[in-house]
Amino acid sequence: MTSTPASASAWHPGSWKGYPALQQPNWPDKAELEQVGKALSTLPPLVFAGEARSLKEQLAKVARGEAFLLQAGDCAESFDGFNAVAIREKLRVILQMAVVLTYSSGVPTVKVGRIAGQFAKPRSKPTETIDGTELPSFLGHMVNDLPFSSENRRPDPDRLIQAYNQSASTLNLLRAFTKGGFADLHRVQAWNQEFVASSPEGQRYADLAAEIDRALRFMEAAGVSSNHPEIHEADFYTSHEALILEYEEALTRQDSLTDEWYDCSAHMIWIGERTRQLDGAHVEFFRGVKNPIGCKVGPTATPDDVLGLCEALNPEREDGRLTLIIRMGADKVADNLPPLLEAVRDSEHSVVWACDPMHGNTFAADSGYKTRHLDDVTTEVSEFFAAHRAAGTWPGGIHIELTGEDVTECLGGEDEVAQDDLSKRYETMCDPRLNGRQSVDLAFRVSELLRG
Ligand code: PEP
Ligand code: CO
Repeated sequence: MTSTPASASAWHPGSWKGYPALQQPNWPDKAELEQVGKALSTLPPLVFAGEARSLKEQLAKVARGEAFLLQAGDCAESFDGFNAVAIREKLRVILQMAVVLTYSSGVPTVKVGRIAGQFAKPRSKPTETIDGTELPSFLGHMVNDLPFSSENRRPDPDRLIQAYNQSASTLNLLRAFTKGGFADLHRVQAWNQEFVASSPEGQRYADLAAEIDRALRFMEAAGVSSNHPEIHEADFYTSHEALILEYEEALTRQDSLTDEWYDCSAHMIWIGERTRQLDGAHVEFFRGVKNPIGCKVGPTATPDDVLGLCEALNPEREDGRLTLIIRMGADKVADNLPPLLEAVRDSEHSVVWACDPMHGNTFAADSGYKTRHLDDVTTEVSEFFAAHRAAGTWPGGIHIELTGEDVTECLGGEDEVAQDDLSKRYETMCDPRLNGRQSVDLAFRVSELLRG
């Protein structure tokens, strides 16, 4: 454990400023940043504290082994090509995965998007050099732009406002879709998007959707009305990596019902693998907000590191407060996860254990494209389940990077994406995402593991 835990003194929304904050942009104009922070702090919250509490209750069920978490969405949302169709397609594939997981396993699925705020990226290097020119790395559209020029790469605080506005309109549409009929289980067949439906995964999904349809018709014929909000509406929550602390601080508000502080930029926020230092600014900020929170845990984390995070972030040991998102890599998880599971179990801390089988399995294809293979993704999830079975703990969920579009960024799947296909539709601004078919395929593989 590191020497001075961030939890040593009084917390307030800006107390993180007294601690080292890694992965922050080098803002050229600090006064402008401060102005933007002030402007953001007067804008309405994006979510209501009561919604964050509802998610925490759902996650408490996951912590107790009564539900499963599906957290999924883009690696990085984009300001370009922002449109309703892209949001709808992402939601559609997440709903498809959730239905596969719930129907096949009999366990409720808690649905959380990496969406409506996922605009900031930690990077392995702060700068990038091309042909002798060194510029700041791309840090996500909340900070700068991707094309390699000094103008694009200059961190611009106005982007925080644009991120807020795009999050607000994304969230508005998600609420409309999930409460307004799009997510109605009677439409489960209609979620099968064309490019998915024509594949083996899509056929398997269509068979399952037909069974659900029959079950709903049977209920109605037997006089049991399927006219319940649970059937017509979906609970869908938002989340992102809370990396840029000025943005998160500006959206942190005191709940009028409880006087507690909530980061109202999303229902759930998480700390990335690169910023989880116990004496760092992110841990300090997170410990004081009451949202359900996550923390990524990579292959180098020791049992002491993880127990330190549990103490700092969930000292009251509340169910649903803390999700540990394990991202070790298919070849490391079997060795490195069991000591963590045992330490947390034996200390009687309460956590949701989720598996991010994406970030430890990235490699460069021969063509240079950054990619991941669905087989490695599946192997990591299956080793994660095996470790939990051995420790007697609950494999609580998965954390996935996906898109609703028919991209070719990850390899494998029943309708195999091969190395030569990567260039066909490689569109991500950051990490490679599963496409709709690969996502549905993964949901079936995970539901088999859940059934045991
Ligand atoms: C991410 O989730 O996109 C990410 C950067 O993950 P990690 O912090 O686990 O590397
Ligand atoms: Co990523």
